[in-house]
This record gives sequence, structure tokens and C-alpha cells, in this order.
Amino acid sequence: MATKNFSILFVASEVEGLIKSGGLADVAKALPEALLELDQDVRLTLPAYRKVNGIESAPVLLETKLEHWPHTEYKVRELTAAGVKAYAIDCPQYFDRPEMYAENNQAYQDNGERFAFFSAACLDMLPKLGFQPDIIHANDWHTGFVPFLLKHRYGNDAFFAQTKSVISIHNAVFKGVFSYDELQCLPEFHGRYAPDAAVSTTHVTMLKAGVMNADKINAVSPTYAEELKTQLGSHGMAAEFQSRADDLVGILNGCDYSAWNPETDPLLPANYQADEASMVEGKSACKRELQKRVGLQVRDVAMYGMVCRLTNQKGVHYLLPILSQFLNNDVQVVVVGTGDPVLASQLKEVEALHSDKFKFIEAYDNGLAHLVEAGSDFFLMPSEFEPCGLNQIYSMAYGTLPIVRGVGGLKDSVHDFDTDPQVATGFVFLEPEPTALLLTMQRSLLLYAQQLSEIRRVQLYAMQQNFCWNKAAQEYIKLYQQAFQY
Ligand code: GLC
Repeated sequence: MATKNFSILFVASEVEGLIKSGGLADVAKALPEALLELDQDVRLTLPAYRKVNGIESAPVLLETKLEHWPHTEYKVRELTAAGVKAYAIDCPQYFDRPEMYAENNQAYQDNGERFAFFSAACLDMLPKLGFQPDIIHANDWHTGFVPFLLKHRYGNDAFFAQTKSVISIHNAVFKGVFSYDELQCLPEFHGRYAPDAAVSTTHVTMLKAGVMNADKINAVSPTYAEELKTQLGSHGMAAEFQSRADDLVGILNGCDYSAWNPETDPLLPANYQADEASMVEGKSACKRELQKRVGLQVRDVAMYGMVCRLTNQKGVHYLLPILSQFLNNDVQVVVVGTGDPVLASQLKEVEALHSDKFKFIEAYDNGLAHLVEAGSDFFLMPSEFEPCGLNQIYSMAYGTLPIVRGVGGLKDSVHDFDTDPQVATGFVFLEPEPTALLLTMQRSLLLYAQQLSEIRRVQLYAMQQNFCWNKAAQEYIKLYQQAFQY
């Protein structure tokens, strides 16, 4: 249990319930909520994008101007997310746009300036709001300049003398690389080479700036924390992560069971719990609804689901070469997602050839995601890399056995059937090869066809796993405590 109550500013570029594009938003909602439940004084901050729920009517707490930034006025508006107070930084020239990061797959040209502004404003607003946090908790590249500016701009500022910073790494493949020219808004970069942010004589990365300047760093799973220190798994930042090894830990994300619980999920046609009769009946009803919804024949057949961003990170390129061959079996497969147009068109080609067994739904659809989780027997997550991954955790809660590559958080959360059936919660393969995925899918199908009772037992065991945020939040509190132990 916590020995000290911290005041914490949790800084994220998206927060579920207000605005979301991916897993970062889930964490930015659930972790502050869990910290609040542990009696921490936690507040959130995010940019006031046009699409943030309720932004227009949110009360203005502050109207001010960013110091050290030419002519940039901004407001701070107050919202709440899962009971946590959220400060939305409202600067129309940067955030009053149709999207958060990109339009038509084109990143906004001034993303460097936008997120530098956001990071700088997060710190600028604090004395003006009279909120003096012990911990400023940044997340991913968008907020990497928060630890950097805390040290370089506010290093001698009495207001921040007792403030420590933490950065969580949700995905280090995205680094926020910008030229000094693009970042002239920051006086820190005027005619100066900043070694703790630089990747070359001309460019800096915001992630590096965060990693090199935060007091503590965490990756969203223990295995990802280890991978980040290797050439192969660090996405090119091994030297930086190695140099910070003493301050780098891994904390596995939790599951927001208020949103992902088959017993209460309002997005399902039938609810069910972890007893065999209820699970079998509930999952069958969900499977029938899924088949109807996507246009597959309604019948009792092994169902494989996948919901993801269409990127190579998620291993779509391992699935594509073997999908047709797998579809020769008596199975149905549903893939839901948006992203890379090339991967989307390849999935459509497979669908055209096997439309009786395979559906690709090119959509970002939360309701359908819940239905796929509940109505499938197996869930595909053959990721090339996976900092944590949340869908495998949702799958287990829904009694849907994840088929994963044993990397990052997938390795930390799923136990392979063949390795030890008694504690198994899914199927794991290692080689980054389509054939390794195919063999593992065949392995799962064989068990389904020949030993359905074993599948049922493993499903029930998976449903009983508990990845609660409360436990993760306690580990974060320990990390905050360590930030003060020098
Ligand atoms: C990113 C990672 C994913 C992780 C999520 C939340 O989206 O790709 O693995 O679960 O962040 O931490």
C-alpha cells in the first residue's frame, strides 16, 4: 500500500472517454483512475482537440500566454475523465483541427511545434493554477519535452524544486523526430546543440529528450523494458535505454474491467460469466450475432478474430501469406481494423477468394471489437513487437484464447498450452515467420476439433486471470517513491 500520497500531473496526448486513437488512451484513463482510488491527488492534462468530448462547454480555468513562446495565448479548460480532473490545453491554432495527429495518413506538418507547445504549456500552467505536483508523469514521444523542459527551463525554479518526472514508454517506434529548424519555437534550441535530445547535428527526438531527462522511466511490460535495452528490440535507441538501465523498469498494464467484462458488457447480445454452462451459452450467442453482423454463415464452427491497427507491428504481414491456406480448414476468420491501405487491400483480396469463411471489416468500431472478443474462440495477435498489448488481456477476460507471438507484454501475459497445459491461457509462438503462426493456429484448431473439453477448461482458466489496474497502480506508486530516493 502507498506510504505517501503524491500529487501527480499525468500528461498524455489522448485519454479514453475524452478522445482516443489507441491503447495509450486506455491507459491514460485507467491508470489515473486507479491512482485516484489509491488516494493519490492525480490530475490529467491533454490537448483540447476539436473532437474532445464536451470541450466546447468545458469551463475555462485560466486564460494566459505561454512564456518564452512568441504570441501564443492559450486557455485551460476543465473536464473530467473517470472521476479524474483533466486540464485541456486549448490553443486553437494548434489543436482546433479535424484530427489529432494526421489527416488522410499525412501527419500535420507542424506536429513538432504542436507537441512542443503542449509540453511547454503543461509546465507553464502549473504555477498559474496553483497546482504543484510531486510527480509529472509523461507518456510517449508527444510529451517527451516535459522532462526535458522541467530540467532545462525550470531547473532553478523554486516552484518545481520538489517535482520529479517519470516517462512511460508505450511504443518507442514512434519517436517524434524533428529538425532544429522546426523547433525554433523553443529558445532551448536557438543555435544550440542539445545532446540529450539530439539524434544528429540537425535533428532531435522528443522521445530521447524524455528518456534522457526523466527521473524514472517505465515500459508498459517487463519484457519490453528488457527488449528496449537490446539492438533488436529498442527501435534504434538501445544506447539511450542502456544508459538509463538503473532507472528503467517494466510495469504491465492492467485491464479496465468496467469496460471489458462479459458479465456486464452492454455491447454484447448475451452476457456470461466464468462457469462452463454460462460461458458456452453466452459465447455461442455472441458468435451467432458476430456471424450475422459480418455476413458469415451462422453455424457452430471454430472462429478466429483479430482487431488491430493494420500495421506490421501487429503482424498482419505474418497472417496474410498463410491465411488462404488456413482457410482450407473448417473455420471462420474475422479481421477488424483500419490503417495501412496496402495491408487493407491485401486483406480484401483474400476476402474475395474466401468470402464464405473470411470477412475483413475495414473499420474502427468499438462495438464490433467487443463482439469479436466475445464471439471468437481464438484471438490473433501475432505481433512483430508489442510493448504491452491490451486485446490479449481482453480476450482472456472473454474466454477467447489468444494466439500470440511471445514478445513484449504478450510474453508476460499469455501462457502457452503446449509448454504447460495446466497454467495455459492461450498459444504462443516465437519465430517471426508466417509458418510459425500457421503451425500455432493449426495447433489450436486441432485441440478444438479433438479435445473441446480441454479448450473449455483453458477458456475458463483464462477468464479467471486478473490483470487489475489496482496492482499496476501500486507499482507506479513505488516508482514515484523511487524517484525521490537519491
Ligand atoms: C501502445 C502499444 C501497446 C500498448 C499500448 C498501451 O499502443 O503498441 O502494446 O498496450 O500502447 O500501453
